[in-house]
Amino acid sequence: MKVRLSDDALAIACGADAIARALTAGGAEVERVSSWGMHWLEPLAEIDGVGYGPLAVPDVAKLLAGELDDKCIGVIGSHPFLARQTRLTFARAGKTRSLSLEDYTATAGWEGLSLARAMSPLEVVEIVAGSGLRGRGGAGFPAGIKWRTVLEAPGDQKYIVCNADEGDSGTFADRMAMEGDPFQLLEGMAIAGHAAGASKGYVYVRSEYPHAIAKLEQAVRLCRDILAPFSVEVRAGAGSYVCGEETALLNSLEGKRGEVRAKPPLPAHAGLFGKPTIINNVLTLAAVPWILRHGADAYRDFGMGRSRGTMPIQLAGNIRHGGLFETSFGVTLGDLVNEIGGGTETGRPVRAVQVGGPLGAYFPPALFDTPFDYEAFAAAGGLIGHGGVVVFDDTVDLAEQARFALEFCAIESCGKCTPCRIGSVRGRETMEKIIAGEQTEANLELIEDLCETMTFGSLCAMGGFTPYPVLSAIRHFPEDFRRAKAHNTPNLEAPDDVPAR
Ligand SMILES: Cc1cc2nc3c(=O)[nH]c(=O)nc-3n(C[C@H](O)[C@H](O)[C@H](O)COP(=O)(O)O)c2cc1C
Ligand code: SF4
Repeated sequence: MKVRLSDDALAIACGADAIARALTAGGAEVERVSSWGMHWLEPLAEIDGVGYGPLAVPDVAKLLAGELDDKCIGVIGSHPFLARQTRLTFARAGKTRSLSLEDYTATAGWEGLSLARAMSPLEVVEIVAGSGLRGRGGAGFPAGIKWRTVLEAPGDQKYIVCNADEGDSGTFADRMAMEGDPFQLLEGMAIAGHAAGASKGYVYVRSEYPHAIAKLEQAVRLCRDILAPFSVEVRAGAGSYVCGEETALLNSLEGKRGEVRAKPPLPAHAGLFGKPTIINNVLTLAAVPWILRHGADAYRDFGMGRSRGTMPIQLAGNIRHGGLFETSFGVTLGDLVNEIGGGTETGRPVRAVQVGGPLGAYFPPALFDTPFDYEAFAAAGGLIGHGGVVVFDDTVDLAEQARFALEFCAIESCGKCTPCRIGSVRGRETMEKIIAGEQTEANLELIEDLCETMTFGSLCAMGGFTPYPVLSAIRHFPEDFRRAKAHNTPNLEAPDDVPAR
């Protein structure tokens, strides 16, 4: 009997290796494949297309005897969580062995690169520009414009840098793409290399992703001849959130301290080692082979407004059905959290959702009709960032979350500019006073003032966007910032009057 089981880091963390050993000991042939991205079902085994999960070692004997009906989820590909998705970047997820060149080639791998190499660099740039692809790392900058800038920049040495630092809370799509489909990312980088006239690429992977680093290094070795004359090196990150910021990343790659560089010059003009550099997120580059294969219009057909194509959304936090949900832009936040994600894992009401990582805004259920779209989120006072959706139930304390946002900024700040380096520390202290009930209204005013300074005075989005979680928490959940006062002020209303949650 052949059993397919993921070797993705999340599946392994849930016990997939132990399941694989038990299956082998029981006489099964085990094939390790990429993950489907249905995290709540991992370790998820597949036998003749039918899924069983989440498995524990004691389930294995029943599985092999064909008696594990209570954990059978039916035909995996027809599962409602997958059936509602549009998987372009993750088309191979769950289906192929990540380091099998045979599987990759059999599923249209390298076709995009062959097509690109038969075109002029400018033609490739025009296709990427025409597709409407925007950077998936957070800023949503049009990839085609960046590529054209590097193509047109003078220089005999140019670089492609893949940003795989993936530091946002609740995000894992880069990791899944690197572990599950590493050749696709390398193909995307080689296409970018052809388009920009760059012969060398680097993947900067966060050090907390050892499985992804190992997979990528093996993949690079296996496809070296296919990529040539383009070559790729994999580098482990320096363990700092701000090293995901593109210029700090470039410094870190050069062996320097991960400190943000002032812009201009843009990396597209003077990036790695001062040379013109395309720096793109994993998902941006991994989308490119599909675009080359199917054409700009086919990609553009998905999505809404200026948000074209699909977005691999990552459902995390206190959510019943956490995992990877790739879909066209336009799905509403409420659908993602309640219908697709199944509400909270605890079964309590959803109270807040943070979208876009630690610098993203908190959304209350009243804003759940916001469509997943760069402009719609900006209009609602937030950002979609790298597509991380972190759900909180009604036990969350938003004043504490706001304090945490400022503390996070203080810890991760590179220290280059004052509004962020000092502002985050003063902000955390002020938020602690608010939580303690000290001069609440005056301190809230001070926080608003400080946030304005951070927004407009910070050199990069680390300090510039920290106000998103802070101000959204104050705006949408004002009661959390005034509760402490009611608790701490003697001889006022009885604590019973404090709204219970
Ligand atoms: C503090 C901070 C952290 C960031 N972290 C990441 C990250 O982990 N991964 C990423 O792709 N982009 C990150 N970015 C965005 C990058 O600076 C840059 O916009 C991105 O790599 C460009 O690629 P894209 O256009 O494909 O999104 C971060 C930005 C800031 C300000
Ligand atoms: S905003 Fe913060 S992280 Fe960005 S340059 Fe200034 S100090 Fe560094």
